[in-house]
Amino acid sequence: MSDLFQSYTLNNGIVIKNRLVVAPMTHSASNPDGTISGQERHFIANRAQNMGMFITAATLVCANGKAFHRQPEAIQESQLDSLRETAQILQKQGAKAILQIHHGGIHAIADLLGGRHLISASDHAPSGAKAATADEVRELIQAFAHATDLAIRAGFDGVEIHGANGYLIQQFFSGEFNRRTDEWGGSLANRLRFPLAVIDTVHAVRERHQKPEFIIGYRFSPEEPGENGLTMTDTFALIDELVKKPLQYLHISLWDFDKKARRGADTSLTRMQLVHERINGRLPLIGVGNLLSGKRIREAYATGWAEFIALGKAVMINPNIAQLLQEQRDNEIVTELDPEQADHYGIPDILWGYCVQGGDWLPPVKGKNWQPMDI
Ligand SMILES: Cc1cc2nc3c(=O)[nH]c(=O)nc-3n(C[C@H](O)[C@H](O)[C@H](O)COP(=O)(O)O)c2cc1C
Repeated sequence: MSDLFQSYTLNNGIVIKNRLVVAPMTHSASNPDGTISGQERHFIANRAQNMGMFITAATLVCANGKAFHRQPEAIQESQLDSLRETAQILQKQGAKAILQIHHGGIHAIADLLGGRHLISASDHAPSGAKAATADEVRELIQAFAHATDLAIRAGFDGVEIHGANGYLIQQFFSGEFNRRTDEWGGSLANRLRFPLAVIDTVHAVRERHQKPEFIIGYRFSPEEPGENGLTMTDTFALIDELVKKPLQYLHISLWDFDKKARRGADTSLTRMQLVHERINGRLPLIGVGNLLSGKRIREAYATGWAEFIALGKAVMINPNIAQLLQEQRDNEIVTELDPEQADHYGIPDILWGYCVQGGDWLPPVKGKNWQPMDI
């Protein structure tokens, strides 16, 4: 069986010490001003040990995109010290620290926007979001660049552009949400323009800092429900463009590693296999999704469909999971949270509250029925 603990050298020469990645997890614990809090420190302080990379919670790049209460931010100079501390907490544990940069678009929460209006690719009646003007589109792209500038100055090893989970970047790519008739919408090429412009501008910041070692990753969701939602065909077109960009990795967002394609490709095959074959070795792929036991993690890696395996819920339940895997102590890996042991996990209060209530996107809880999210 292939070894999860072999190193991987990215195309910019940076060596990732093994194939395990902490999946980005919004923890709902930052201070209201977007800086790091005590509970957040505690949550990230003991989860990156023996991990190759740690991707942070979705971190806000622009005030009109705030989609979570207590979301970390990379907007203001005043947040630089907080970002520096976050990077250092992860790096001290030996992991590469990657800042996930994010804008919620239609999923922003109006009450958190300080009177600003919601903004997206197109008008969106259910959320009240307005279509960005051409100037606002450029400002949004610039916000990702500015967050990257802060990330570099804070000492992060890289950024991950959050193009997944239905947030702003995906809203521009998706025919379901993007109904623009200008250069930023309409044809597939036009819908790709925003995600690709974000990548170009993030790369330009790296160039300006003369930091080729800085890692740039891109996360995407391969399919959307809904008549005009993204299909595997759209995702193949996205991948064909992404591999031409100066990226270091791609990261698929899935709730189930074994989920088969819904449409636009051979539906007897998994999204993981299809995406990996399309990339065809041109960039490494991070795979993810409901890998809770040692057996499932090792089986997923052994498929060969992912150069890296990201773990979310498994890391919430087992902060030291990488060490357990490395020492072949798979029988000590726990697959559900024990609601009686709040102190054991160090999960911030708000997130812990969601966990004990239960949900398909959250870890299974002892004594409760649970089905993984299926989208
Ligand atoms: C509590 C929680 C918060 C999450 N927050 C983010 C996030 O900020 N950004 C993101 O891209 N994905 C986020 N996700 C999705 C995870 O990165 C991951 O794709 C998903 O949980 C499936 O992996 P898992 O089964 O190993 O948990 C979150 C998941 C959970 C459970």
